[in-house]
Order: sequence, then structure tokens, then C-alpha cells
Amino acid sequence: MNRPRLRAWLVVTATALLLLVTLAFGVYVYLTGDEPDLPISAESGREYFRHRSFGSPFETGIPFALVLASLERFPDELGRDRDAFCAKFGTLIDPGSPSSLPVGFAVRSDQLSGTEFLMTNCSLCHTAELNGKLIDGLGNRNLRLNALNQAVMRVAARPEFNAATMVPASAAAAKRRGIPWGWRAAWATEAAIGVLKKLYPANSAGPMGGLKSVDAGPGRNTPVEFGKEASGVPVAPPYGLTKLPVVWTYGRRESFSCDGSLKGDKAFALAAVEFNKKMPVPAILARAARWESVYAYLKSLVPPAYPAPIDEPLAERGRAVFQENCSYCHGTYGPGRPVHYRERIVPLDVVGTDPDRLHAVSPELVAARARGAFARKVQLEISKGYVPPPLDGIWCRGPYLHNGSVPTIVDLLRAPEDRPESFYNGGDTGYDLARLGLPYDEETRPDGRRIGRRGSDRQFLFDTRGKGNSNAGHEFGVDLDDDDKRSLLEYLKQL
Ligand code: HEC
Ligand code: HEC
Repeated sequence: MNRPRLRAWLVVTATALLLLVTLAFGVYVYLTGDEPDLPISAESGREYFRHRSFGSPFETGIPFALVLASLERFPDELGRDRDAFCAKFGTLIDPGSPSSLPVGFAVRSDQLSGTEFLMTNCSLCHTAELNGKLIDGLGNRNLRLNALNQAVMRVAARPEFNAATMVPASAAAAKRRGIPWGWRAAWATEAAIGVLKKLYPANSAGPMGGLKSVDAGPGRNTPVEFGKEASGVPVAPPYGLTKLPVVWTYGRRESFSCDGSLKGDKAFALAAVEFNKKMPVPAILARAARWESVYAYLKSLVPPAYPAPIDEPLAERGRAVFQENCSYCHGTYGPGRPVHYRERIVPLDVVGTDPDRLHAVSPELVAARARGAFARKVQLEISKGYVPPPLDGIWCRGPYLHNGSVPTIVDLLRAPEDRPESFYNGGDTGYDLARLGLPYDEETRPDGRRIGRRGSDRQFLFDTRGKGNSNAGHEFGVDLDDDDKRSLLEYLKQL
């Protein structure tokens, strides 16, 4: 081989190799999100749950500088700064966290585009404040997720939200905050603006249009509707307004969700929200180690202990009442930990609670979710009723039932017509340690119905006559006499 030919051959080979390596790197980044997995353990799970993200920033995140620029440009929608944002949407601040972001948010820098993305993790919805402490695994009662989502939709639909204004504004925000910025970040930001504008066009329903009219209020969300949106199934009533649930019970569950409709691999089922946020299925499948770690973390969680004295003899009497009236469905509990729990589904006509969440899972959604590689891991089925959840830590899980329609346990142990017909939620008004649940001052209307008064002007009306808000059903224990109810309540404080 002569010299020029050798050189040409070397150049071609080197270029081919470089292309191959770049391609392999690209595929690796796409699949794994380029951060190596942490070793599988509960501690790693805590990292993902609370501090990190699960990757796929292009699909599940927004360039951080764009978020900061949007806060500045649209303060009426998003709040001017972090604290105003938190007050508006009920997100929390962790004073002990090295990051100054609200709980549930993480910044992820993407190697491929040299851009920092703002991402969300499990603690956005499943970490709550209780007596001044942040509790992982407890649903955030104050989070107004639909309101946040709708604010983002409205901002994206505004004509002033466009690449010509927002890319320079993002560059300026990046400079002020010391966020890396360059042509790739500008390109990624422009691409993100394009995607947001396509998802939420002005003057039209748009792909996410069905979610525009749904607001579950504080502490709730519309998981089935997000699932429909992600699966290309039209969003239509009935809407599944669902409380952000506790997740420290998941280790003993056989299925995922309040109606038991999601079955299969319990670790992969934890990707449900990332799936709804459109994380690509190959990326979900490539992150097995992360779901395993988070699953291990959920299993390691223990509910907080009831923080006031418990009348032990009274609670002991309550144990017998519980065993007679409740154990059949909810299991039996030892000191602090369940001794026995077997998941079952209680048919709707037996439990009698609001039907909308159950019926929100439609045959079209089930058919859509049966396609694709994720269906080999996790299967969606139509259920016939609701799962009686394990009751550990039940004292701090109010408001109660899957739709959060009953503010306290004392109310749950009353006949539906004696439960408050309306009350106020959200706005962080503390917790009632006596009645176990949302605190409220009560009022009896002339027609004899009880209602809860507003506790602060940051609270929202929960009207049980609204669609998906019924407080009917679960009439178990309502006929117990007052002594039995008192002892049962004392017993429930210990679980
Ligand atoms: C956007 C809010 C949100 C985020 C973020 C979120 N979840 Fe959830 N999660 C929900 C809602 C709402 C439900 C109730 C679903 C239902 O019952 O239909 C739920 C249900 C669950 C359940 C089932 C609980 C039960 O009793 O059936 C588990 C377990 C769970 N989530 C774990 C996680 C993990 C782990 C993450 C992070 C990877 C996560 N979630 C992220 C809102 C969220
Ligand atoms: C026939 C089965 C059955 C019996 C008996 C039963 N429950 Fe339930 N329980 C359920 C079901 C199903 C749900 C979920 C209903 C829903 O969310 O719509 C539930 C929900 C609950 C909740 C709300 C959980 C939460 O996280 O919001 C509490 C509290 C509760 N039950 C307490 C009791 C007590 C106390 C007793 C005994 C007096 C009892 N239950 C008896 C089936 C039962």
C-alpha cells in the first residue's frame, strides 16, 4: 500500500470508528440517560426518590434556564420566585437540602446537549410535611398539581412565549445564575419551546387539551387522565380524581393503584409516572436497576409514630373492635408492623365509594396499554372495585378514601349523610391529632348537614356533591357504639 492510500484508509477507518463510538455513546445516553446507575439498594432508591431524576431529560424535563426565565416573565402564572411558586402550588422546601430547589425537583445536566434540565422525582407527590418534618412516602396534601400543569399550558400557549423572546431571556437567566450556556443549550431551549408550543397550542384543544378542564385540587391528581394522554387515548369523563397516596404500604401490595388495576412487575410499575411523562419505553426498560432501588427504598420506609400519648388499655380494647370489624379486609397488625395482609379487591357495590376513578380506566386505555414492550412488564386491567389498603400510619393519611373526600377518621366512622358535605383542603393548616385528619371548624346548616369552615384563605373548597368527589360508601364501623368507636380510634393511632 502506498503512503497516500494508507493515509486515506486510516482517515476513513478513524472516521468510521469515531462515528461508531459517537453512535454507541448516543444510544447509551438515550437508553441510560448517561449517568451510570447507582448500586441497587434502598439508599440509592432514596437518592432517586428524593434528590435525583430518572433521566430522559428531553422527554421528561425542561431546560432549567428556560424555567427561570419563565418565572421572571410570567409571575402571574408561575410565581415570581421559588417561594412564590411554592406558595402557589403547594410544593415544599427542604431546609437541609444542598439544592435550593423545591422538594421533588432536580437539575440534571445532559452531556449530549450541554444543557441543564429541570426534572421532577417521586418526592414531588409522595413527600409531605407533617409537624414541621418532611416525611418520605406520605402524599403531599397541599400539592396543586393540575393547577401547576394548567399554568404551564397557559404559559406555553401565550404568543410572547416563543423562541425569539425566550431563548435570549433564558441565556440572560443562565448567565445571572451561573448555569452553563452555549450554542447547544440555545438549540435545546429552542427545541423545548417548540415541543411545548406543539403540546399546548393556543386556541385549540391540542394533544393535552383534555386535561385543561380537570382540576383535582390540593393533594390529588388525575393519574388515569395523564395515562390516557400519554397513550394517545382521548381524555373524557369520568375523571379519576385520586389522592396522592402513601407508598410505604407498597411492599405488601400485589398491584399498583387504588383499584388494583396495574399488575405485573412491581419494580417496573414504579415507572408509571415517568411513562405518563412520555419517557421512551426503551429508556424505562434500560433503567431496571433504578426501579429496583426505588422499590427497595419504599420497602424500607416506616410510617411516623403518632406524636402524642396513647391510652394503651383503650387501644387494646380497640384492637378487638378492629379485629371483629375491619381485619377481614385490612389485615391484622402487630405493634407497629402488620402481621398479616392479603390484598383483595372489594367490589364497588360492596364498598360503595365514588365510582369515577374505577370507571376512568376505560377499555380503550386498556387496549392502548396492552401494546408495546412495557406491556410485557406491567399490565393494565379493568378492576371491579377498590383495594382495602394496608393501614399502617393511617393516623396521618387524611383526608381519607381514594378521592380524599372524608376529612377525618372520626367522620369516616359516621354514616355518609353525617360526614361533612363540604370542607376546605390545602393551604397547609396543620393536622388534627384528635379526630385524625384535616382540621376544620364545623358548622351545622339549617338542613342539618355538617360542613367544615374555611381555615385560611389559601384553602380550597372540597364539595362532596361534585363529580368524582362523593363521600358515600365504606359504611363499615358506622354502627358501632361510641365506646367502641373511641377505642377503635385509639387503636388506629398505633398502626
Ligand atoms: C405527579 C405526582 C406523582 C409522582 C411524581 C409520582 N407519583 Fe406515585 N402516585 C401518584 C398518584 C396520583 C397515585 C395514585 C394512583 C391510583 O391509585 O390511581 C400514585 C400511586 C403510586 C403508588 C401506588 C400506591 C397504592 O397504594 O396503590 C406507588 C407505589 C407510587 N405511586 C410510587 C411512586 C414512585 C416510586 C414515584 C417516583 C418514581 C412516583 N410514585 C411518582 C402520583 C405521583
Ligand atoms: C369489606 C371490606 C372492608 C371492611 C370490612 C373495612 N374496610 Fe376500610 N376500606 C375498604 C376499601 C375497599 C377501602 C378503599 C375505598 C376507597 O378508597 O374508595 C377502605 C378504606 C379505608 C380507609 C381509608 C384509607 C385511606 O388511605 O384513605 C380507612 C381509614 C379504613 N378503610 C378503615 C377501616 C376501618 C376502621 C374498618 C373497620 C371499622 C374498615 N375499614 C373496614 C374495605 C373495607
